[in-house]
Amino acid sequence: MDSSHMGADLERVLVSETEIETRLGELAEEIAKEYEGKDLLLVGVLKGAVMVMADLMRALPMTAPVDWMAVSSYGSGTKSSGVVRILKDLDADISGKHVLIVEDIVDSGLTLSWIKANLESRNPASVEICTLLRKPDAAKVEVDVKWVGFDIPNEFVVGYGLDYAEQYRGLRQVGTLAPHVYS
Ligand code: XMP
Ligand code: MG
Repeated sequence: MDSSHMGADLERVLVSETEIETRLGELAEEIAKEYEGKDLLLVGVLKGAVMVMADLMRALPMTAPVDWMAVSSYGSGTKSSGVVRILKDLDADISGKHVLIVEDIVDSGLTLSWIKANLESRNPASVEICTLLRKPDAAKVEVDVKWVGFDIPNEFVVGYGLDYAEQYRGLRQVGTLAPHVYS
């Protein structure tokens, strides 16, 4: 299934491929300025952040190592439970490092606040967050997110790493699914 075919399952495109590319370029400049001369470590949250990480790290005008974490926060369905389990931990020790968590989306904020607190307990020099998307109306906890690509409405979205039942991650844009997909 190619990207254009999958696009037929979208009801509405919320963020286009060009908008994502432009915004990540802006964020990359800001991030590089912030971490100039510092020991930066990019930490991606699998699987959703794969696309953001791939494009952000290529837009960054500096080199930085990348590590990955996988957590499970959803029991079933599409609502965050707040119960977070580490499925895959970081490969390396982060003590003394400036950690930048790279995420696809902050929805309720429950997952990210848990991950942030967990990483902060490991003695890093700092922990900040960069997310492509944020749903301000869905926030259940305050998470201090330093870099946000786009604030979007409180609707379930797919594409650019985000999935519905593991599908649609390969879409180049972010959008809502057409009702026929759910039925
Ligand atoms: P919370 O609610 O804890 O969300 O901030 C954590 C994780 O849930 C996933 N998520 C979504 N996935 N479309 C998706 O495909 C969405 O609209 C959506 N909202 C949340 C995502 O993995 C996020 O990291
Ligand atoms: Mg995620």
